[in-house]
Amino acid sequence: AIDISKLRQETGYITLDTGYKNTGATMSAITFLDGEEGILRYRGYPIEQLAEKASFIEVAYLLIYGDLPTQDQLDEFISSITKHTLVHEDMKQFFEAYPAQAHPMGVLSAMVCSLSTFYPESLDPNRSAEKKNRTILRLLAKLPTLAAWSYKNSMRHPFMYPKNEYDYVKNFLYMMFAMPTEDYKVDPVVVDALNKLLILHADHEQNCSTSTVRIVGSSQANLYASISAGISALWGPLHGGANQAVIEMLEKIHNDGGDVDKWVLKAKDKDDPFRLMGFGHRVYKNFDPRATIIKKAADDVLEKLKIDDPLLDIAKKLEKVALEDDYFKSRNLYPNVDFYSGIIYKALGIPSEMFTVMFALGRLPGWIAQWKEMSEGGEPIGRPRQVYTGEITRDYVPITKRG
Ligand code: ACO
Repeated sequence: AIDISKLRQETGYITLDTGYKNTGATMSAITFLDGEEGILRYRGYPIEQLAEKASFIEVAYLLIYGDLPTQDQLDEFISSITKHTLVHEDMKQFFEAYPAQAHPMGVLSAMVCSLSTFYPESLDPNRSAEKKNRTILRLLAKLPTLAAWSYKNSMRHPFMYPKNEYDYVKNFLYMMFAMPTEDYKVDPVVVDALNKLLILHADHEQNCSTSTVRIVGSSQANLYASISAGISALWGPLHGGANQAVIEMLEKIHNDGGDVDKWVLKAKDKDDPFRLMGFGHRVYKNFDPRATIIKKAADDVLEKLKIDDPLLDIAKKLEKVALEDDYFKSRNLYPNVDFYSGIIYKALGIPSEMFTVMFALGRLPGWIAQWKEMSEGGEPIGRPRQVYTGEITRDYVPITKRG
């Protein structure tokens, strides 16, 4: 292997690769992705098989510990998670201090970081493997509760406590949608669709939020702080925020009269900052394998739930027009996973400000697995270099002599 620091000392060169388009930041045994061929595998298992056959919690185990669990291992994993689903009552009060219109991603990121203050054992980078694992289980268990409560808070609705006899996905839906005064039944179609969506989002190698988690963790910051940083990175509309941006774009097109061609023209106009949200991907340049799976799931859900929504008609038209257009074809711009995930979330009754929170819920096992791999592999602190382009040197000028 090339010793980069020796090479730099000898040559004085620094590699400049803005956006890290061709720079590997780490070695990883978690997720394999081939953007040209449209292949995605977790720990060697094709995403198509996992989405079809596995449960989200099984996939979480696979990503974090490296292999699919046996029945005993899975039972033990689920029962350990179940012990930690409650959130400290003092933390519950934090929610109430946020304004009702607070974006749930802002609340979620802050709440996850706050967990470190309630569990100080997470702060010690040299703690035992058992304590490290407890930190992981706590986070996996509490994120659905925190996510659902961030939504309840935005509605000023009463918080629902976890029902531990429910599985991971059903419990989350219950905490999101149940009300103390109503008898809430979780629809199995919705549970299945959400299970699939969470699996598809569970890891995606060194994307913006995952790289953030690894780089923050490389300073030996605790797991909660590292994941909180990942949640913030995910929030942006060019990353996880794209699913919310898709629905907002469809609403805009609808309110403007539904002329899809006009908006496609706008997206192609280089003087117009508008981009078609949910189209294009940094790595997939032929198709996004997750989009293929999710498109089918979206069709199934819409049919089973008998949903008739003008926004979905616009989405279908947009997909068709863009796929046939030379601008999009020549740049390999296809609908990505977020184009369809926003559509499914909307059909499931999940409000658009919660879409990126749903993404975070799915991505959590991947972030944890990547943080664990980074810390166990003893990676050095992440510290990129730069190519300086500013003034070389200047003498200080008193304020009266400036200008
Ligand atoms: N609409 C219109 N034009 C686009 C779009 C789009 N959605 N995406 C890319 N282009 C154009 C660019 O203007 C550029 O054109 P040019 O070559 O004439 O200058 C060309 O396609 C290449 O685009 P880049 O921005 O260089 O591609 P990059 O790999 O840096 O960006 C990204 C990828 C950020 C995903 C981009 O396609 C985009 O902004 N898409 C919309 C937002 C989105 O859906 N994000 C979700 C990503 S998936 C995820 O996070 C799970």
